[in-house]
Amino acid sequence: MKLKSEFSKEHVVSIKDFSVDEIEHVLDVARTMEPVAKGRKTSDILRGKILANLFFEPSTRTMLSFEAAMKRLGGDTIGFASADVSSSKKGETLADTITVCSSYADIVVLRHPQEGAARLASKFSSKPVLNAGDGAGQHPTQTLLDLYTIRKEKGEISGNKIGIAGDLKYGRTVHSLTHALSMYDTEMTFIAPQPLQMPKEILGRLSRDGIKYDQQQNIDEAVEDLDVLYVTRIQRERFPNEEEYLKVADSYNVNMKTLEDVDDGLIIMHPLPRVDEISAEVDDTDHSRYFEQAANGIPVRMALLSLLLEVEL
Ligand code: CP
Repeated sequence: MKLKSEFSKEHVVSIKDFSVDEIEHVLDVARTMEPVAKGRKTSDILRGKILANLFFEPSTRTMLSFEAAMKRLGGDTIGFASADVSSSKKGETLADTITVCSSYADIVVLRHPQEGAARLASKFSSKPVLNAGDGAGQHPTQTLLDLYTIRKEKGEISGNKIGIAGDLKYGRTVHSLTHALSMYDTEMTFIAPQPLQMPKEILGRLSRDGIKYDQQQNIDEAVEDLDVLYVTRIQRERFPNEEEYLKVADSYNVNMKTLEDVDDGLIIMHPLPRVDEISAEVDDTDHSRYFEQAANGIPVRMALLSLLLEVEL
């Protein structure tokens, strides 16, 4: 199967650049990658290819799952352990870093604190760029694995009532996910204390596009009819100061009491890392899917790498 045929993207910068057909194609390819992702089959379709992992912010899942995806397909990775040991510390611009690193590798993965950094990188890179999170902007590969998880668990994405809870103001995963879900026939409820509600620009766009949504402040009250509850961490690092953060810290928590009246089929997702917004007791219930969700990052990122590098299965 020639994978590139239904996928003409040069870079993956924003989920807004995707059509539903393109999303579904990535998810279909990801499904075929599962045996290799789980180590039950081997593959060397990316042998000889190098991925540059450029992370200017901390990461566990995104960085390591890109590395695992590349290596499971026979490729290799380069990268720096932290921005502090890169020449950005000496004042090198992102544009220069990308120009140079894209000459060392076949594909570039970038996480950066500045919104718009990945778009800028795509202009200077001679190789495909994947946005691994740009400030409070977008995290499109996370969104694709979130959609993959919903489709795998629920059969399809459309038709679900999805609660998106937590730090909706600064959370890039929920900004990307909201855009993606608005392309499907879903019912969205945004659940957050008022200071952390979804930005007005995003709500305005949903309204202009005729997408219905609901807003709630209390998870325990909002969760009853949901098929999916997507919880996020408060992004402490994005608040202007500690005082603002402390006003909303500890303002929500999913625990056994939250689950008392939920549907049996409710699944709980979280992009992770979590801090204290989901109690550990929830991990052992039939509702938790966040660790499976994190594991789904491997086949989805394998699919993206294969598509962008135009290899054949
Ligand atoms: N979900 C996510 O982006 O996790 P990391 O910050 O660990 O990469």
